[in-house]
Amino acid sequence: MIVYLNGHYLPESEARVSVLDRGFLFGDGVYEVVPAYGGRLFRLEQHLDRLDRSLAAVRIMPPLDRAGWTRMLTELLARNPGGDRSVYLQVTRGAARRDHAFPEDASPTVFAMVNPLQPGDPALLETGVAAVTMPDTRWARCDIKAITLLANILARQQAVEAGATEAILVRAGRAIEGAASNLFVVGDGVIVTPPKDQSLLPGITRDLVVELAEAHNVPLMETPVTEADLRAAEEIWLTSSTKEILPVTRLDDRPVGDGRPGPVWARMMKLYQDYKQQLREGRV
Ligand code: PDD
Repeated sequence: MIVYLNGHYLPESEARVSVLDRGFLFGDGVYEVVPAYGGRLFRLEQHLDRLDRSLAAVRIMPPLDRAGWTRMLTELLARNPGGDRSVYLQVTRGAARRDHAFPEDASPTVFAMVNPLQPGDPALLETGVAAVTMPDTRWARCDIKAITLLANILARQQAVEAGATEAILVRAGRAIEGAASNLFVVGDGVIVTPPKDQSLLPGITRDLVVELAEAHNVPLMETPVTEADLRAAEEIWLTSSTKEILPVTRLDDRPVGDGRPGPVWARMMKLYQDYKQQLREGRV
């Protein structure tokens, strides 16, 4: 695997970062995960907009401009040929003597790598997956795509140990999102997803689902989802760049709806796959 590190393309085994890097010492950085289908970056503008917002929120000067990011990501994909892939991109505040306050002299560390994107397991899409609810113990700025992910990691691990695929995080009686995914429920045939605010990550996949629903007149509301709404839902889905739209058919060991992926999911999944196909053909 060829990775990108601070302006260089090099084998992963040769890429080195300082032990004083603030990403390593403090988790002081932000990231993006951008899928590429047929070699084309999925919703690149939206991912780079979100990266800019994350960098501004944590006050790291953007190390590359829009054209620079695009050139780098395109070059990195070209150097790692293969099928569908996702690019992981991270920017930290850089290496400096350890002190919580910002260093004056550090320059950001920029790292990117390419990972294969596993096509959705057809068996999982037949049966759906299990999820478990748990308290949202994260901080108050979950809209920033920060590399500081300890609460998300602990939640996901607890879900895995309970035999589930994802944790659905609940805060003040509301279901917010997954440990690494956004949340949708269907009630009375209407899709509902929590509105974007500082409690959750503004997912690029989420936004595309909202856009596709609007474009195809599928009823959708952006309103808070209470824990009661979640438990009464006919369908529950989780979305992310790597999971796409994943149907949840068991919640805390009870079936969701009739325990099978629902019809509204099937409709939205088809629209999503059609969009990907258009991207592969260079039509979006
Ligand atoms: N995570 N919410 C959280 C907390 C996430 O970490 C993610 C994505 C999402 C979905 O966002 P998007 O649709 O833009 O991927 C929602 C990535 C995939 C990760 O950490 O690997």
